[in-house]
Amino acid sequence: MKLLMAANWKMFKKLDEAALYSKELAKLARNLPPDREVALFAPFTSLRVCADNLGGSVALGGQNCYPAAEGAFTGEISPGMLLDCGCSHVLVGHSERRAILGENDAFIGKKCAFALSAGLQVLLCIGESLEERDKGLLRAVLERQLGEDLAAVPETASAQNLSVAYEPVWAIGTGRVAGAPDILEAHALIRAFLERRFPDRGKMMRILYGGSVKPENVAEIIALDNVNGVLVGGASLQIDGFSRIVRAPVA
Ligand code: 13P
Repeated sequence: MKLLMAANWKMFKKLDEAALYSKELAKLARNLPPDREVALFAPFTSLRVCADNLGGSVALGGQNCYPAAEGAFTGEISPGMLLDCGCSHVLVGHSERRAILGENDAFIGKKCAFALSAGLQVLLCIGESLEERDKGLLRAVLERQLGEDLAAVPETASAQNLSVAYEPVWAIGTGRVAGAPDILEAHALIRAFLERRFPDRGKMMRILYGGSVKPENVAEIIALDNVNGVLVGGASLQIDGFSRIVRAPVA
């Protein structure tokens, strides 16, 4: 299984910046280490220009979608619209959407199932808050999120189409990366859940780590068991930094 090195721009970059970056990213993608794939999750407004510049060399995804084909859902974007813009992927359940936009597991579960059935590859984001971790609720929180978020996903979902990103809330944008034992423990829990839930396929589904990944720490992170890639926020905003992350050797 190749490592998936993914950039999440969040709410950054206007069209001219997105155009410049995606041209550079397409160049980077021409010369990737053989064990790597790259994905870019860009704001809706930048998707089309990124799709044109990337020309399929990098997987492109939206950061959210609404679980319906079309309809009176002002301000929302459907999976079909993402596909139409050149996307193959979508992020679902990012902690910023849970915490700031009030998304709950039931709604996230609808999105996962609908986006998959519409033909997108889903990267489901889960993770505990510091308070939950301190209360010893790591396993309970991750298993609740996985259980509810994947409740309507068929057992036959392909390993290619469903991945999970473990993003501990306390490590996102804080500069405080989770330590190796924390990452190993959480990823092992997630792997065990996926193997139970998807008996033939769970072992092949990617589990990415996200939270303060930087050029300086990525080599150790991608060397860990059950880490099949990284989801990078802040450090993906400059192409030079993201390029160093994408090319980092495995420690
Ligand atoms: P940072 O890399 O900025 O901590 O963000 C992680 C993240 O939320 C990626 O989705």
